[in-house]
Formats: sequence, C-alpha cells, structure tokens
Amino acid sequence: AETHYHQFNVQEIAERRLCRNHRIVAVNGQFPGPTLEVRNGDSLVVKVTNSAPYNVTIHWHGVRQLRNPWADGPEYVTQCPIRPGGSYTYRFTITDQEGTLWWHAHSRWLRTTVYGALVIRPKLGSPYPFPTPKIEFPVILGEWWDRKVISVLRQALFTGAAPNISDAITINGQPGDLFRCSSQGTTRLSVKKGDTVLLRVINAALNQQLFFSVANHKLTVVATDAVYTKQFTTNVIMLGPGQTTDVLLTADQQPGRYYMAARAYESARNAPFDNTTATAILEYKLSATTSQPVLPQLPAYNDTNTVTAFSNQIKSPGKVIVPMKIDENLFFAVGLGFFNCSPGPRCQGPNNTRFGASMNNVSFVLPKRASLLQAYTQNIPNIYTTDFPHVPPMQFDYTGNVPRGLWQPVKGTKLYNLKFGSNVQIVLQDTSIFSTEDHPVHLHGYHFYIVGQGFGNFNPATNTAGFNLVDPPQRNTIDVPVGGWAAIRFVADNPGVWFMHCHIDTHLAWGFAMAFIVENGVGESETLLPPPFDLPQC
Ligand code: C2O
Repeated sequence: AETHYHQFNVQEIAERRLCRNHRIVAVNGQFPGPTLEVRNGDSLVVKVTNSAPYNVTIHWHGVRQLRNPWADGPEYVTQCPIRPGGSYTYRFTITDQEGTLWWHAHSRWLRTTVYGALVIRPKLGSPYPFPTPKIEFPVILGEWWDRKVISVLRQALFTGAAPNISDAITINGQPGDLFRCSSQGTTRLSVKKGDTVLLRVINAALNQQLFFSVANHKLTVVATDAVYTKQFTTNVIMLGPGQTTDVLLTADQQPGRYYMAARAYESARNAPFDNTTATAILEYKLSATTSQPVLPQLPAYNDTNTVTAFSNQIKSPGKVIVPMKIDENLFFAVGLGFFNCSPGPRCQGPNNTRFGASMNNVSFVLPKRASLLQAYTQNIPNIYTTDFPHVPPMQFDYTGNVPRGLWQPVKGTKLYNLKFGSNVQIVLQDTSIFSTEDHPVHLHGYHFYIVGQGFGNFNPATNTAGFNLVDPPQRNTIDVPVGGWAAIRFVADNPGVWFMHCHIDTHLAWGFAMAFIVENGVGESETLLPPPFDLPQC
C-alpha cells in the first residue's frame, strides 16, 4: 500500500458564472477541487492550509476513519475549526472501501464550493468486479447561486424563512450550455465508439436531490457510496446530497453528441422546478462538433415512483452478514418543524414562526468551546449531554397530522452512547410537521445496511417481517422516502464521536443532527487512537 501526500490551500478565487464575476472559496485555485486517486488500503496525508478569511475544516465523506475520528473533520464535532492562517494535517487510511467517495468543507456554508472527488481503486493486482473501463470520469453535481452563498444561508438562518433556491445545478462546476453565458465552460467528455466509461457520479449539491441521465445511453450501476452493488441497468439514477453512484456506460450509439444531464427531484415542492437542467456533453470523436446534442428524458421533478423503483433495485452483490440480534433498537422521528417567535424580522416563517429541524424533537446545537470529541476524550464538562431522547414508533400519525407537542422542537446538544460492538438498528421516520420531504441522512464513520424502507408510518409488527436480511445494500447516506421510513443496521465497531445528520445543508443548519459516542472496546484494536499533535484548538 502507498501513502499519498497532498497540500490543500483553501483560498478565495475569482470565478465567472452565469454572466457574473464571483469570489468563491476553493482549494488550490481549482473549482471543483483536486480529485484524489488512491487504492484500497492506501493512506492519505493531506495538509490543509487556510488562506481564506473564514474558519474551515475538511470532511472525507464516507471514509470510515477506523478508530480515527480525529481525521473526520466536522467542525465542533470532531475538531475545532482551522482558523484563517492556520493549518491541520489529516492522516488516514482507506480500509476495505472501493468506488467513489468525496471530500468537502464541513464548516457552515463553505461546502457549496469546497469539494472534490475521492477515487478508490482496487488494490494493486486486484481487478474491478466488471470489465476494466477504458475511461474513468468523475461527474460532480453541485449548485450555484448568483448571490453570495453566505447571504443565502444567513437569510434562512436570520429570518427563519426557507432559503432561496439556487440559480443553477452544475456538473463539475459548470451549469452547461442551456444556461446563459455558460457554453464555453460546459463540461465535455470525449469518447471513441465502443469505449466503456466508468462515470463516478457524486451529489455535492447543498440542498437538492438530483436525477442524472445520459441521452440514448443505458447506465449500469456497479457501486454506491464506495460499496459494490449487484449490477443493474437503468436510464436514470437519483442521488441525494452526499450520495455517490458509479455507473458503466458503453459508447455504442451513432457517433454524435449527447447530453449528460442533471435536474432536481423535489418531493416536497408543488410547483415544477424545471429551470435547473444542468448539462455536460458526451461527444464521440470525429463527430461534427456543431450538431446540437440530444437531451435525455429526465423524470418530472416530483416523480417519486421512479425514485422508489430505482432505490429498490440497489442491493449487495450477494448474501451479506447483517446484524441479527439487535442490542439497540432505535426509532428516530425526523424532519422539519417550527419555533414560535414574536413577529419581527427574525420570524418570517409561516404564521409567525421560524423554520427548524430536529431528530426526536431535539434541534441540534453545535458546541463552541470545545469539539464533542475533545469534550468526550478530555472529560470537559457542560459541552453536551448523553440523553438523546427515545420516542416510540406509532406514537403519532407521524406522516399525517402530528400533535402540537412535536411541532415545538427543543434546542440541545444531546448525544447517544453506544457500547463497542453492539448491534444497532435505527428506523428513520419522516414527519410532516411542515410537509413531508425525503431526507438524505448521513452517518459518519460507518457504512450501514439498508434493511427496509416504505411509505407512511413504520409499524414494527408488520414492517419488520419484510426486512431484507439477505442482500441489502450498504451505504453511508440513506435517502429516507418522502412521507415514509427507512431501517438501517450496523455494528458499532468504530469507537469515537460520530455525527449523524441530514445532508441537506439548510436542514443541518436548522438542527437536523445528533451524534453517537461509540465507547472503546477492550483490546488495543478496539480503542481510539491518540489525538494528533496539531489538532486545532477552540
Ligand atoms: Cu458529507 Cu457530515 O457530511
């Protein structure tokens, strides 16, 4: 195995998009940031220097970070921020993961432009579980605002109203030539007839679930979230923010130009949201470069049936070992809610309220004086409590009419303790305090099995019997169905403090988060590594 050394310089740069000049925060002057390429088993040493005027941290989304939450990156969870002028070196190893992950800033709104791909190939000498592709190409989907993103998020946080939607979806940082002033920069991929291409699709968007499709070409799904899947063929894939999907494509069409396109899936919206089709161009060599590319048929913005059919096809390649005897049977009612407030500029949500979000009715507040991990390992008092609450399934009609008591989340920094090695099941239940919506829930430090999902209220008596305990997929981010539930299982075998949150940035900022403390086990291999000497202090 190899060790890869990288320097990340976080700095403001000038970028022109949608006919306007912007200053954005980016890494090494590149937007999207550098693609890191490693093999399973390799180590990374990334020195991050902060030359931007904002606090920053970097999260390696989906990397398991075994016994090593010090390198995980969420601000005030596992580390204090890297201050302007400061630096921190992330050191970690990739263990038993292959496919595509990504990295992004985990400091407030910075992940809008601070992100890049992390490509993990098989160990030297091991093949892919599919024919070796001729071309590999990361497709990073993002969002672009005409206004400064900081003001977009501030508006949502300050006024308590919904955030302004983005002005464009992007593919590798570019909206594509259907948008004004965008044809020059449009992302292009050039192929020869007969080539097989591995597209490593990443949803790095701040707030949008996205459909992705390539005109006239079928996509064969081979991996999600850096775990191989049973292979299946589809015209369209859907990714929640945070998720990745690797697909194979064969250039078997008439030489020509074809759009790869991404557009929002908006389960909660009741108006079309079609101004967002981002495009990149797949062009066959020797084809006329003037011909207008063919657009793929993308599903309608609210096509939940296509989403359900797609996600039901994602399975492990064969039988897997799912935790069977459950030690911790948890039920998390999650979603948006409201805080009451007195009429005024800070109270511009519906009917004199502020939007909030919660898990089991706790709206998560990040600490400031120390990170949760430092507070835990150094016994610093009054940073957090470990009384993350229980709520029972079927206490309410969660997806119908939820009683007022659930409409009023309480603020808190509440964690939940897990014993090392315990078998955990969590049922994530969407709620409809505002309206139902699908939520991409991400757990740091783990991959989990998705053993079941469905619509309406989770009923343990009837739904448990239908769980897939044979070949469920493994992911780090589950897109909980709109007005429905999803059940996940994992073994708590990675000690540390691990954040769990909605990967829609606005929902995270509103408090849709919690964290687990996974206690040390007995042997050295079950115990936290010591903190690095250069860990930033608060
Ligand atoms: Cu990709 Cu906590 O995030």
